Amino acid sequence: MRLLVTGGAGFIGSNFVHQTVRDRPDVQVTVLDALTYAGDRTSLAPVADKVTLVEGSVTDAPLVDELVAASDLVVHFAAESHNDNSLNDPSPFVQTNLVGTFTLLEAVRKHGVRYHHISTDEVYGDLPLDTPERFTAETPYNPSSPYSSTKAGSDLLVRAWARSFGIEATISNCSNNYGPYQHIEKFIPRQVTNLIDGIRPRLYGAGLNVRDWIHVEDHNSAVWAIIDKGRSGETYLIGADGEKNNLEVVRTLLEIFGRDAEDFDHVADRPGHDLRYAIDATKLREELGWTPLYTDFRSGLEATVDWYRANEDWWRPAKAATEAKYAAAGQ
Ligand code: NAD
Ligand code: TYD
Repeated sequence: MRLLVTGGAGFIGSNFVHQTVRDRPDVQVTVLDALTYAGDRTSLAPVADKVTLVEGSVTDAPLVDELVAASDLVVHFAAESHNDNSLNDPSPFVQTNLVGTFTLLEAVRKHGVRYHHISTDEVYGDLPLDTPERFTAETPYNPSSPYSSTKAGSDLLVRAWARSFGIEATISNCSNNYGPYQHIEKFIPRQVTNLIDGIRPRLYGAGLNVRDWIHVEDHNSAVWAIIDKGRSGETYLIGADGEKNNLEVVRTLLEIFGRDAEDFDHVADRPGHDLRYAIDATKLREELGWTPLYTDFRSGLEATVDWYRANEDWWRPAKAATEAKYAAAGQ
């Protein structure tokens, strides 16, 4: 099988490529990645001899057309992915997330290539803090930020292309991922690298917002389950029952680092900050028989801390600029 992975030099995409090379030797992988600030070719270094990396944008229609024509399957991870950045400058979010997805859809339509679309639970907006309610594939779209609204728009393009043009497509909406190779602007790796540097973790607002954490390996095994067994035109929600508030995550990290439980700072909250995300993954589990492997959050977090300790060369170059950006926003 000839597989085109967009955004394969980013966090989840590079982990997906590693998992694919490890578990599926019959798959030939080509990565299309613009190598923005969030993409890093060294994230693919361990598999460099088995993967072709094409540096380019998903908005480049002739390039996309050529690569899609030479593929049997496209898995589309490429995106601008950080909410805080989308509040500072929404423009690349509209270009990459909306125009980029449109460009890929036109190519898969023309060449009859199977397409899997990677999306987020943030398209559904947020949930109240203290209810048992969770997102399902039937929850109405209600995105809050430029990031989540452009992801929502991209999902709707996929649905329309499936219904109107009959493209063979599936969509997955996953909750917050953690694991190796995540950019240090994101919550968990930011605090891990702060703690390595002896800086206090930074909590937005009161720290009570809830995220439904899943290990990136489990996200990617679910994506393969959908590719293998999912029904075309369907949406599958991916989650592993990992709800934690941000304060709990910071306290667990402080414990792992042997630091005092109060050794963190509250900083300015994010405007429009979604309160809670929670996924009901019953459809994925029952229809496709998928189960997560990383069910113990603390040990998954310990392994992630170990990875950042052992791979300082990978993250160090971005640390000062990332913290300067946050400092300018009072965060
Ligand atoms: P990331 O920011 O780490 O990686 C994005 C990758 O896309 C980078 O390698 C970047 O260089 C590349 N890219 C950006 N613009 C591009 C363009 N125009 N053309 C080609 N490549 C481009 O993001 P991530 O966290 O790995 O997220 C990957 C996907 O998963 C996104 O679609 C995101 O919405 C989705 N998702 C992320 C999470 C999460 O917790 N991180 C959860 C659910 C869904
Ligand atoms: P983030 O990793 O940006 O993911 P998302 O916004 O997609 O959920 O943030 C996760 C949560 O952590 C979110 O509630 C915002 C919060 N947060 C902090 O409290 N401190 C930080 O330094 C960052 C980056 C995020």
